[in-house]
Amino acid sequence: MIKMQNIWKSFGSNQVLKDVSITINDGEICALIGENGAGKSTLMNILGGVLPADAGTIYLNGKPVQFANPAESMNAGIAFIHQELNLINDLPVFENMFLGREIRGKWGRLDLEAMMEKTAEMFRRMNLELDPRAMVRDLDASYKQIVEICRAIMMDASVIIMDEPTTSLTEPEIRRVFQMMETLRDQGVGIIFISHKLNEVMDICERYMVLRDGELVAEGKVRDVTTDDLARFMVGHDVRTEQLTRSVRLGEEVLRVEDLTHRTAFRKVSFSVRSGEILGFTGLLGDGRSELFQAIFGAEEILSGRVWLEGREVKIQSTGHALALGVGYLPRNRKENGIIKDMNILENASIVTWPLFAKRGVIDKTRQQALFAEQREQLGIRLQRITDSINTLSGGNQQKVVLAKWLGARPKVLILDNPTQGVDVGAKEEIYDIILDLAEEGMAIIVLSSEAQEVIRLCDRALVMYQGQIQGEVSGITMNEHDIMRLATGGLLDAS
Ligand SMILES: Nc1ncnc2c1ncn2[C@@H]1O[C@H](COP(=O)(O)OP(=O)(O)OP(=O)(O)O)[C@@H](O)[C@H]1O
Ligand SMILES: [Mg+2]
Repeated sequence: MIKMQNIWKSFGSNQVLKDVSITINDGEICALIGENGAGKSTLMNILGGVLPADAGTIYLNGKPVQFANPAESMNAGIAFIHQELNLINDLPVFENMFLGREIRGKWGRLDLEAMMEKTAEMFRRMNLELDPRAMVRDLDASYKQIVEICRAIMMDASVIIMDEPTTSLTEPEIRRVFQMMETLRDQGVGIIFISHKLNEVMDICERYMVLRDGELVAEGKVRDVTTDDLARFMVGHDVRTEQLTRSVRLGEEVLRVEDLTHRTAFRKVSFSVRSGEILGFTGLLGDGRSELFQAIFGAEEILSGRVWLEGREVKIQSTGHALALGVGYLPRNRKENGIIKDMNILENASIVTWPLFAKRGVIDKTRQQALFAEQREQLGIRLQRITDSINTLSGGNQQKVVLAKWLGARPKVLILDNPTQGVDVGAKEEIYDIILDLAEEGMAIIVLSSEAQEVIRLCDRALVMYQGQIQGEVSGITMNEHDIMRLATGGLLDAS
């Protein structure tokens, strides 16, 4: 059993945790929820030995403990799956699985064979087709997430902290992770589960704890509440979640793709999107949708196929080239492709809108700041100073900054891969509203998402991919999760 008592933490003048006390019992899955920037990761970083608390005590099975670094927390039996993935790119998967707890054989030599065997066995149990020898750098974000989860599960920990473990996973993987969590719970492991997907919380957790502005404002049994209740605890007021409907006025075709084929990831993909339309792309892990758009933007080689923009054939070389053509692209993985770590918040937010503010190479700082101030307000971006490093923002707030830069850029076609990853319920609604407004104004928008609910709420129609091909299309008010899942797993819809 873990108890964190009267925990305080500030960053400079920013008081982030205010007298927070929580308990996690053995054999219990407990949700820790709250808006972006509420202090969830900070609290867990203290438990994981990543950050020191300013005040407060941690008790492990009744005894006070102190963790000066992550290794001490890990040795005490606490496994931590970080929100921002924490693997070493230059090592193969199986070595990553045993970082800090390598298996050694005779004379202290690394027993690679044993580590590989154990990893392979774990993947078999998870029903994963993943080569333990693959280099981490070659893995897609979702696989990296799964590797982190497997690593934590393999540690024989007594407590597991899962900070948004499911952001880039799809339904079947999430189910598998949940099954593992239930097995561990039944073995007496305590699990702290952080997620912005409240239906996941309802599914897997027995208890919830809500942080708002660094204070514990609510806790209780999940079976006594609804997702609307949880959303209200987090935000402090009701959150609208009803279906969005709008009258779509479609304009001219803006982007057309014909018979695009890749060596391995996808083949013979054709689609088009019109001005004013919101087109969804969804499917399971490995469906090829992210690679498809990387290829359209010149980052992946294609074997054949053609792309037209407003009726003219184009060969996009890079995202910069795409922007010059009026096509914006938010890639899937924020940490690797979305943010520039050495830049501050404002610079990150305006990196693609610079041309709008620059006259003869000089940036109009007043306009740049005014636009960002507006976006910050709209999206509820929580920050101290716009000149602070982007690293000082919570995960969800970083995502909002990355989105802000594209929403402000006003391209003709905007492609958003996994746009609301890690964004809290209130801000998600704001983002949906902004996307709908942009479509009303005539922008063509493509949303790649693994959340069927998101696709249904936002898109006018959606293409479901399966193993690199478009398996089928769903559209209008008849879109439902069942049909999407059917297509995503290789089935077909009833012809009716
Ligand atoms: N290294 C840091 N330096 C300065 N401020 C920080 C740092 N890390 C976090 N903060 C601030 O602490 C506050 C809480 O951040 P935290 O990451 O704990 O939020 P969170 O609840 O995990 O949010 P999210 O849902 O977006 O992940 C935020 O205001 C954030 O800007
Ligand atoms: Mg966080």
